[in-house]
Amino acid sequence: MDALNDIVERAFADFAASADPAALENAKAKYLGKAGALTALLKTLGTLPADERAATGARINAAKRELEDALALRRTALADAKLAAQLAADALDVSLPGRGRGIGGVHPLTLTLERIEMLFHSLGFDVADGPEIEDDFHNFTALNTPENHPARSMHDTFYVDGGMVLRTHTSPIQVRYMETHAPPIRIIAPGRVYRVDSDATHAPMFHQVEGLWIGEDVSFADLKSVFTEFLRLFFERDDVTLRFRPSFFPFTEPSAEIDMRFGDSGWLEIAGSGQVHPNVLRAVNIDPERWQGFAFGMGPDRLAMLRYGVDDLRLFYENDLRFLAQFAE
Ligand code: FA5
Ligand code: MG
Repeated sequence: MDALNDIVERAFADFAASADPAALENAKAKYLGKAGALTALLKTLGTLPADERAATGARINAAKRELEDALALRRTALADAKLAAQLAADALDVSLPGRGRGIGGVHPLTLTLERIEMLFHSLGFDVADGPEIEDDFHNFTALNTPENHPARSMHDTFYVDGGMVLRTHTSPIQVRYMETHAPPIRIIAPGRVYRVDSDATHAPMFHQVEGLWIGEDVSFADLKSVFTEFLRLFFERDDVTLRFRPSFFPFTEPSAEIDMRFGDSGWLEIAGSGQVHPNVLRAVNIDPERWQGFAFGMGPDRLAMLRYGVDDLRLFYENDLRFLAQFAE
């Protein structure tokens, strides 16, 4: 069977000389394909004398397996060589970071608002909502701040088309709620508000949470107890120190700014507040002789500063993930 040895030797040489997968498959066809040399040899078996057929058949089949093994080895070698060439050409940089998807988190200001809603809910308050683009009547006039009232200049207002404003506070939601709901009323109203303002404790777009409790005998003392209890729950400590600093708002009388003590000596204003002015109640057809109560408008962004120990609240609005990711819960 010199013919068989010859075929095997030539096949080995051709496989080894195949420089790429296509050449290798051609070489395979030359020996193992339908018209291949080894296949042709198998077909001659029938012409052999009967006593030689078994042994010759076995030899040819063994040679066939040998060629198939050699073929598999060469295939792997060519694939490895291709990868090595890609690596050498820098086409595949295994040092690049993977394309994994990062795990998202909730923004710290959203976490703060959710926490405030949850705590006020536990104190018996519903949550109300209102538009961010507000008309002059709800943002000012109904809040006892008619046109040309000097208090309008307390707010650096963004005006938009058609006499509308970007609401400067959440207080218009008080008015909208009282227009559609009769007392008793106990709500908070969180939302975005806008002012031409920017420094470490002021952002041009920020959040407020309005509070409103109207009943037959709701007093300033209730404001103090509700607000203090809320802050104890919020900061999870009993020793929060507050200062109710006399102030002025056209829509409350008396009025106070609420400051909170932080660190050794600092005070940070966190809310404006007061007893709802009778004129505000009259504007929404609620009888001020029968109903009274308090309102406040607090800055949750400032609560987030104190809770997380951040000294410039504008950082919350820069959307730098290296900053925000520190507060993911
Ligand atoms: C008001 O806006 C009143 N509407 C609050 C009010 C409501 C008083 C109901 C009485 C009754 P003031 O301008 O002080 O008040 O703002 C309230 C709080 O919002 C501030 O104490 C502060 O915590 C927060 N705040 C105000 N301006 C900014 C700002 N630019 N960036 C971040 N927080 C602010
Ligand atoms: Mg203020």
